[in-house]
Amino acid sequence: MSQFWKPGTEKPRLVDDEEGGVLFLSASASSSSSSRFGYASVEKQRQRLPVYKYRTAILYLVETHATTIIVGETGSGKTTQIPQYLKEAGWADGGRLIACTQPRRLAVQAVAARVAEEMGVKLGEEVGYTIRFEDLMNPGTTMIKFLTDGVLLREMMDDPLLTKYSVIMVDEAHERSISTDILLGLLKKIQRRRSDLRLIISSATIEAKSMSTFFQIRRRSLEAAESGPRMEPAILSVEGRGFNVQIHFVEEPVQDYIRSTVSTVLSIHDQEPMGDILVFLTGQDDIDASIQLLNEEAQSNGKNSSGLIVLPLYSGLPRAEQELIFSPTPRGKRKVVISTNIAETSLTLEGIVYVVDSGFSKQRFYNPISDIENLVVAPISKASARQRAGRAGRVRPGKCYRLYTEEYFVNEMSAEGIPEMQRSNLVSCVIQLKALGIDNILGFDWPASPSPEAMIRALEILYSLGVLDDDAKLTSPAGFQVAEIPLEPMVSKMIISSSELGCSEEIITIAATLSVQSIWVPGRGVKKDMDEAKLRFAASEGDHVTFLNVYKGFLQSGKSSQWCHKNYLNYQAMKKVIEIREQLRRITQRLGIVLKSCERDMQVVRKAVTAGFFANACRLEAFTHNGMYKTVRGSQEVYIHPSSVLFRVNPKWIIYHSLVSTDRQYMRNVISIDPSWLMEAAPHFYQHHRHNATAH
Ligand code: CDP
Ligand code: MG
Repeated sequence: MSQFWKPGTEKPRLVDDEEGGVLFLSASASSSSSSRFGYASVEKQRQRLPVYKYRTAILYLVETHATTIIVGETGSGKTTQIPQYLKEAGWADGGRLIACTQPRRLAVQAVAARVAEEMGVKLGEEVGYTIRFEDLMNPGTTMIKFLTDGVLLREMMDDPLLTKYSVIMVDEAHERSISTDILLGLLKKIQRRRSDLRLIISSATIEAKSMSTFFQIRRRSLEAAESGPRMEPAILSVEGRGFNVQIHFVEEPVQDYIRSTVSTVLSIHDQEPMGDILVFLTGQDDIDASIQLLNEEAQSNGKNSSGLIVLPLYSGLPRAEQELIFSPTPRGKRKVVISTNIAETSLTLEGIVYVVDSGFSKQRFYNPISDIENLVVAPISKASARQRAGRAGRVRPGKCYRLYTEEYFVNEMSAEGIPEMQRSNLVSCVIQLKALGIDNILGFDWPASPSPEAMIRALEILYSLGVLDDDAKLTSPAGFQVAEIPLEPMVSKMIISSSELGCSEEIITIAATLSVQSIWVPGRGVKKDMDEAKLRFAASEGDHVTFLNVYKGFLQSGKSSQWCHKNYLNYQAMKKVIEIREQLRRITQRLGIVLKSCERDMQVVRKAVTAGFFANACRLEAFTHNGMYKTVRGSQEVYIHPSSVLFRVNPKWIIYHSLVSTDRQYMRNVISIDPSWLMEAAPHFYQHHRHNATAH
């Protein structure tokens, strides 16, 4: 292990040999004009972070304990510094890797870029990252790897003990994402087999005690007790250095949080001293809507909003736009970042002095009785509200404007959020565990147990998909193939069926398109033009077939950005579709799936979709005349989303891809089907419901 620097002592500008002169002298560092700091200040900045004082302690604990739990306020340097400390201390020597997981893709990219910049190396070399469908690392040189927790789970399918890694830091553990929870359960198992592996569980606000209890591992043999690290987890809390944040509540509940957001931002800009504003909304749609509204207000009231730089922040934002978020605000300007939950703890933005908190976020909810999962705009917890407010006190005392009443905060807001595991459909989770050879899923050691009903539902659907057999084991080859494809099992099943139906070329295009957020430009310009543009591609069969038309057009245009612009298509999203499709092509070929096109026969495409998504079948309730559908399985009321090409067309039988819930349950991406295909695709799933699944 290398020597540690003493806290508080300034590090020499040119680093000593042992730390590797490469760190700051590499060509990429000195020639990088976009770098936000010269190399003198890199070290100073690093040393100013709260975790720096604990560098020695952290390295000591990791050395001596199998698990170290680190709690520290957002922005204290956990994510960007700890992996570097570990590397400096030799944990990446001998070709081993240091992993740091994040629940969010965008955070993975942003943090990896930042660490590479601090180390003065090119991203993808010493510091790399992997997110689904994007791998930027070099197996020969990468020492620190950032990745989503989902990707690390997938890696376990090839390497169950994760032998490449010396230390795995599970970051943002307080988010309790479903993948984080599965990962924690599995890592606990791995620890029993690998005494050389070290875990770091880090987060902003975790219940350190309960996490520590979860990781208590009893020594089983005397022999093991004599060597290796201590098995009881160490807990370290890093004191923050946040400034005071003044909280303002609204007097009366707000009717429209987007409008209130915009007027709050404008009045801060009007009345408060300089300092950037961070706004928390729920998703791309309301972020875009609020930006549009801000621009409109700006036009009608020019003086009021001059000097504002308004930037969106949500997952799926292209890398170039991410850079703007992190770059310093020009003098005399005020940056307004309108973000999803991602800026709550995953990313730290410098210069924020004002926070506007809508009080909502988009959350996944699953009801095992109706078998419906959707994304709902739901109230946040008190813990989240405190985190959000904390973002205002990074650089100097700040202010937080909550768009809800104090009475509501005190009496109605729940203290903590519910772990995602307990509000999700578990189909993906179950198949992943099965693929890792975990047979007794109900008996698995979870940090938070999922509901038995949800578990049983998941098993039932996987059985109907032909992925699990009567003994709840993966079927061969279908089950293993489905598990191998890094997509939701229903999408994977659709791909596998398309091979038999002779339409795999088309289906992988559809699967790739369904993997990006939306290929359409959100609400830009006149709505009517956009609808007309959509009509040019619209297929009477539904959205999935429409995607095929768009894809064809994009290829014919020579993948032109102008063509996308003209047709209200998101060029970045289309490029992503091409990229993902290429990866799916490779994966399916590896699985021995023959790629074949059905040319114009869209019936087989619809059958393939049915083979994967039969559980999402719905029938029009014609007598209501308002476009109401009911799900075949659970008789739930649902409607076609206005963005669908089948909106107002209302075919009798359809299958949807996903649901979003606002005032109603809306189906996004729908395709018309013939009900007889349901019985063909999943006889056991529909046999008790035959009376429903016959055309009236
Ligand atoms: O993980 P934690 O919230 O404890 O902090 P961090 O993400 O490691 O951030 C440490 C510092 O790096 C903060 O001062 C951030 O502002 C800065 N940072 C940055 O400027 N750009 C990034 N992309 C990430 C972090
Ligand atoms: Mg962090």
